[in-house]
Amino acid sequence: MAIFLTGATGYIGAHLAANLLDDHGASLNVLVRARDPREAEDRLWHSLQLHLDFKRFYEYLQTRIRIFRGDLTSTLFSLSTDDYDRLVHTTDSVIHCAASLNRKSEKSCLNVNLRGTLEVIKLGMQVDHYHGLRRFSHVSTVAVAGKRQDEVVTEDNAIDWNRSDYDPYARTKKFCEHMIRQLLPEVPKTIFRPSIVLGDSRRAETTQFDMVRAFVFLAGLPVLPLRSRDRVDIVNVDFVADAIATLHAKERTQYDTYHLSSGKESQTFRQLTESLAAAQDKRGPFYLPFLQKPFTSSVNVLANRKSSIGHGAALMKVFMPYLTFNTVFDNTRITSELGRKPVPFSQYSYPLLKFSRDTNFTYPYREWPAKVGGSAA
Ligand SMILES: NC(=O)c1ccc[n+]([C@@H]2O[C@H](COP(=O)([O-])OP(=O)(O)OC[C@H]3O[C@@H](n4cnc5c(N)ncnc54)[C@H](OP(=O)(O)O)[C@@H]3O)[C@@H](O)[C@H]2O)c1
Repeated sequence: MAIFLTGATGYIGAHLAANLLDDHGASLNVLVRARDPREAEDRLWHSLQLHLDFKRFYEYLQTRIRIFRGDLTSTLFSLSTDDYDRLVHTTDSVIHCAASLNRKSEKSCLNVNLRGTLEVIKLGMQVDHYHGLRRFSHVSTVAVAGKRQDEVVTEDNAIDWNRSDYDPYARTKKFCEHMIRQLLPEVPKTIFRPSIVLGDSRRAETTQFDMVRAFVFLAGLPVLPLRSRDRVDIVNVDFVADAIATLHAKERTQYDTYHLSSGKESQTFRQLTESLAAAQDKRGPFYLPFLQKPFTSSVNVLANRKSSIGHGAALMKVFMPYLTFNTVFDNTRITSELGRKPVPFSQYSYPLLKFSRDTNFTYPYREWPAKVGGSAA
């Protein structure tokens, strides 16, 4: 029996897949978007090579990974009836990690997050009907807490239907949680809400550059239009993957919802920029919070430019609300249940920024070795 994992070709999903395979001896049924079986294997190799060398990846592919080539937004994931039946009958639990993070596209968030999650819930119900579903884990986000200012948000007071959301991503992710609670009432389920997932505390390499780009953009400015003592809740991806994999494996979890975040130990902008400046033997930036309005207007103008500054500005525009709301997400539940805490961002931010700058924000992917054929039919 296997865990049905969505989003394995993504940033968090790949960390999660590697953790489940290496540390939990799990077998995985993974949903991958691809035109043909060869491309599906190749896409999975791309996402997992940060964690596994080709030999181990190929071994897993032959023994413990089953690829289902499909799309969340199609009925039965666009699988044939036979493949869908095979998926139902070989799955004993679900980790739904895939999503659209496109904060600017309501259409994409509606289709992937809402219609997609409904399709995963339907699969969970089928599995439960035939042989019982051991656990349904859903990767949500702290963004479901909506617009906030200067707060410490706990799991139980995050959802407030009268509050406005920052974007379609946050709104649709909030409704995904609701669908899971309403439609899978009797099934053991866990909702994980990561905060800003940025970098791996064990290594500089990353395959995900959007947040890093926004961070590099900010870190390069001599003056920051922010309040130096505001806190920003950043969490390392290895902590997130480990937390999800560990709790998913448990027979019982203490709660059904967990913030995967740095919580009250989140660092301030001043702490983050000072550690970066020290690592580069530079002076830290000046903080002039009253410049926030003109800064936001300039970012909006720059965001329309087709250049690397334009790209950085476009990302800043999207992430700005999450950087200025000075809100952190209490992590007492997960840290006490796991017995460990996330690594403070200042301890691993410089290698991450250096790697990203040195590679010009692209991961140097290794291709599928020429001598090895695919295992797919
Ligand atoms: N990154 C963060 O800071 C952060 C923070 C809080 C919560 N989260 C949550 O963590 C989860 C993973 O985020 P991430 O950063 O790893 O995102 P990501 O790198 O963009 O990965 C998204 C994954 O979803 C898959 N996907 C998207 N549309 C799909 C579709 N129609 N059918 C099948 N698969 C589809 C993607 O497949 P393709 O490779 O084919 O595109 C990819 O594997 C999401 O649920 C997100 O809400 C992330």
